[in-house]
Amino acid sequence: MNYKEKVAKAIFDADIGLQLEEIMDIVEVPADDKMGDFAFPCFKLAKVLRKAPPMIAKDIAEKIGANPLFEKVEQVNAYVNMFLSKEEFVKDILTRVQSEGDAFGRSNLGEGKTVIVEYSSPNIAKPFHIGHIRSTVIGNAIYKLYDALGYKTVRINHLGDYGTQFGKMICAYRHWGNEEDVKREPIKTLLEYYTKFHVEVETHPELEDEARAIFADLEKGKEEEVRLWQWFRDESLKEFTRVYDMLGITFDSYAGESFYSDKMPAIEKELEEKGLLKESNGAMIVDLEPYGMTPALIKKSDGSSLYITRDLAAANYRKEHYNFYKNLYIVASQQNLHFQQWIKILELMGREWAHDCVHIPFGLVSLEDGTMSTRHGRVVFLEDVLNRAVEQTKEIILEKNANAENVDEIAKAVGIGAVIFQELSNSKIKDYVFSWEKVLNFEGETGPYVQYAHARACSVLRKAGEDVVKAASATDALDMKYLVSPAAYKLAKEIYDFPQAIVEAAEKYEPSVLTRHIIDIAQSFNKFYYEEHILVDDEAEKKAKVALVLAAKTTLKNGLGLLGVNAPEKM
Ligand code: ARG
Repeated sequence: MNYKEKVAKAIFDADIGLQLEEIMDIVEVPADDKMGDFAFPCFKLAKVLRKAPPMIAKDIAEKIGANPLFEKVEQVNAYVNMFLSKEEFVKDILTRVQSEGDAFGRSNLGEGKTVIVEYSSPNIAKPFHIGHIRSTVIGNAIYKLYDALGYKTVRINHLGDYGTQFGKMICAYRHWGNEEDVKREPIKTLLEYYTKFHVEVETHPELEDEARAIFADLEKGKEEEVRLWQWFRDESLKEFTRVYDMLGITFDSYAGESFYSDKMPAIEKELEEKGLLKESNGAMIVDLEPYGMTPALIKKSDGSSLYITRDLAAANYRKEHYNFYKNLYIVASQQNLHFQQWIKILELMGREWAHDCVHIPFGLVSLEDGTMSTRHGRVVFLEDVLNRAVEQTKEIILEKNANAENVDEIAKAVGIGAVIFQELSNSKIKDYVFSWEKVLNFEGETGPYVQYAHARACSVLRKAGEDVVKAASATDALDMKYLVSPAAYKLAKEIYDFPQAIVEAAEKYEPSVLTRHIIDIAQSFNKFYYEEHILVDDEAEKKAKVALVLAAKTTLKNGLGLLGVNAPEKM
C-alpha cells in the first residue's frame, strides 16, 4: 500500500460515511509542505454529509488524530492537514530502496504487454545531424521507461532507406562517382553526388528519366541496382552506428522503409477494395477532405509508392508480427499532418487498434548561431557535437583538477551525458536552442550537476568506509530520529516519489518529468549535504545519515540510467 492509500484508509476507518475510492479521489498533496504531507479538502462533502466543510474537517481531524500513521493532524478551515510520522516513513522508504537496489523504481505494471518504440529513423546517405538528436535521445528514454515498467519492448529504427532519391543517387554515382571516395567518407560523398544530380538535372533533364528508370529497376530487384543500394545503406549505417555507440543506444530492428516494399501492394489493394482509393491526375490518393485534411498521396502517377503507404504497411506488419499494446512513433512535430492522415486512413480501413498507434511529436532544436539547415549546407553533424562536448568537458575537469584520474572516461560520460540530459530537461514539444554554456554548466539544472551530486554521494560513502555502509544497509537497526530534519525528510520524500515519477513520465511520454524529479533529488541531496554534518562522531547518527546518502545515490544512479546517462562514481 502506498502512503496515499494508507491515508485514505485511515480516513475511511474513521467511518465518516464515504467509500474508500471517493476518499482516494479527494486526498491531495499540498503544494506547501507546511500544510502537511497530505491534505483532505472537505468542500465537496458539505452536500452529502449535510454539514459545513470546516465542521467536517474538524470531525475527521479528531477521529484520525490518534492514528500512529500520523505525527500530527490539523484542521485548517475546510482542510484536514495530515503530517506523517516521519521516522516510520523514512525507515519505510530507506528499507525499500535498500532491498530493491538497482531495481528501485522498476515495476511489473506492464507485464505481458508489448510496446513498440520507433525512434531515430534517419535517412540513409544523408547526414546524421544535430536535429536527429531529439528523436534518438527522447525515444531511447521512452523505451527505457517502458522497459522499467515491465513492458516487453521492441526498439525499431525505421530507416529512411527507400524512395526515388535512391534512383537519383545511383544515377549520380554512375556518372560521377568513385568507390574509394564513398568508402572513405560515405555520407559526405553520397550527399555530394546527390547535390550534383540536382545541379546537373537543370541542364540535362534526361537525367530525371534515367533516375526514375533506375529506381524502377531497384524496386524490381535488379541485381546491380540492389547491390549499390545495399552498399550505400551499409556504409551509412556504419556511420550512424558510430553515433549510437557514443550515445549507448541499440535497436532491436532496423526494418526501415525498404522492408515494406513488398508489403505495399496488399495495402493498395485493400484501400481499393474498401473504396478508399481515388484517382487524381494519374496518381492514387485517399481523399481526406471530409476530415479537414489534404488528400494523402498513396501512389504516384509513375507507379512508385510513397512514404505514407510504407507507414500504413509498417503499422499493419507490426500489429501482425508483434501484436503490440502500443506502437509509439517519436517523430518531429513537422510530421504532424502525415501522422494525422495516416491514423485516419488506418481508421477508415477499419483497424480497431488504430489509436494504439501514437505519434509522439517534439519541437525543433536550433543552434545559437542560427537555425540549422541541411539545404544551405550548414549541417552540424551530431558526431561533431558529441565529440566537442567530450573535449570541452575534459578541459573543464582538468581546469578543476590537473591530476584528475580517468579523465577520458569521465569526460565521455559527463560530456555525452550532458547533451542527453539537456535534451530531456524540457517539455519535448517546445522548440529550444542548443547552448554550449547551458549544456556543460556544472551548477545549473544540468546533467553534470546531477552526476556531480551522485559522485559526491559516492565520495561520502567511500569516506564513511565499508563497515559503516554495511551497517547503514541494515535499515531496521537504524535510529531514524536523525533523519527528520526538514532537509533529510524532504530528500526522503522525493526518493519515495521516484517510482511514481517513472510511471508519470511513461504515461505522458514525457521523460522531462523524470529529469525534473531527479534534479529535485540532486538539489535536496546537496542541501542535506551542506546543511548537515554527515560523517559525525556519533555512530548511530552517522549510520542513519549514511543510509540516506546511500538511498539518494541509488536513486540518482537509477534515474540517470533511465535517461540513458552514465553515473560515474568519481568526477
Ligand atoms: N526518416 C524520416 C525522416 O528523417 C523519419 C521517419 C519517421 N518514422 C515514420 N514511421 N514515418 O524524416
